[in-house]
Amino acid sequence: MLNDETQRMAREVAAHLGPQATVAVLSGSGMSAESGIPTFRDAQTGIWSKFRPEDLATPAAFTRDPGKVWRWYQHRRKGVMAAQPHAGHRALVRLEAMVASLVVITQNVDGLHQRSGSGRVLELHGNILRSVCSTSRRLIDPAWIAASGQQPPPSPHINGAYARPDVVWFGEALPGLVLDEAVAALESCSVCIAVGTSAVVQPAAGLPRLAKRSGALLVEINPQRTPLSRYADYCLREPAGIALTAMVAACEP
Ligand code: OAD
Repeated sequence: MLNDETQRMAREVAAHLGPQATVAVLSGSGMSAESGIPTFRDAQTGIWSKFRPEDLATPAAFTRDPGKVWRWYQHRRKGVMAAQPHAGHRALVRLEAMVASLVVITQNVDGLHQRSGSGRVLELHGNILRSVCSTSRRLIDPAWIAASGQQPPPSPHINGAYARPDVVWFGEALPGLVLDEAVAALESCSVCIAVGTSAVVQPAAGLPRLAKRSGALLVEINPQRTPLSRYADYCLREPAGIALTAMVAACEP
């Protein structure tokens, strides 16, 4: 049950989400939490409360122990494949049909926005279900991965290279074209919704402020305060599923 304050904010935000609205959503791992995928930095449950990123999510970690890194990602892939989109993902799909345009810019690598039916999704940090050659970065056919008994499978493209997950590791650049498209969308949107991100990992963390500086309404959805909160016009302190459902319900006739 939503409290009156959140209900009021949902209604006020909805007033900005008419047919002319251009919406950019920046999502982080909190968006997938209600689908059962752990966040990174939540105390106790966050991935980085149990593992050190430098052991598992850097190019150096993969060079040092490719088998360990590959197995860890295989384990996470199983979790992602078992997960289902939740009511918040579906609310964004309904919102897309009601406004002039909506783009989801996500730091998540789980593909849940696409699976729920969002039409335009920019993956800033890649996708855990894809594999690429560790040297050439060419995509590798999933059938090749499945047929290989090795961990990691060898790359079919370059001798001596391996398959690796198509995700951005610490120390690696974000895909340039995707980032450019995200920046363009944020600089031209009328409403920016930052949902489920701690807003501490750059460059993604700085993106909602681009929208704000360009005149957009900035809405944060997160049960916790973040460095972004002080710039937001509205902070809905609820889980993504509840807040997005309420906000989109307030837009519906
Ligand atoms: P974090 O784990 O840093 O932050 C998750 C945020 O989600 C926190 O602010 C939580 O309060 C919030 N949260 C938790 N449950 C929620 C819910 N049900 N609804 C809404 N919000 C909720 O995750 P990210 O901000 O996504 O990068 O982290 C950014 C990047 O750091 C990730 O993409 C990953 C990570 O290391 C790489 O691996 C390169």
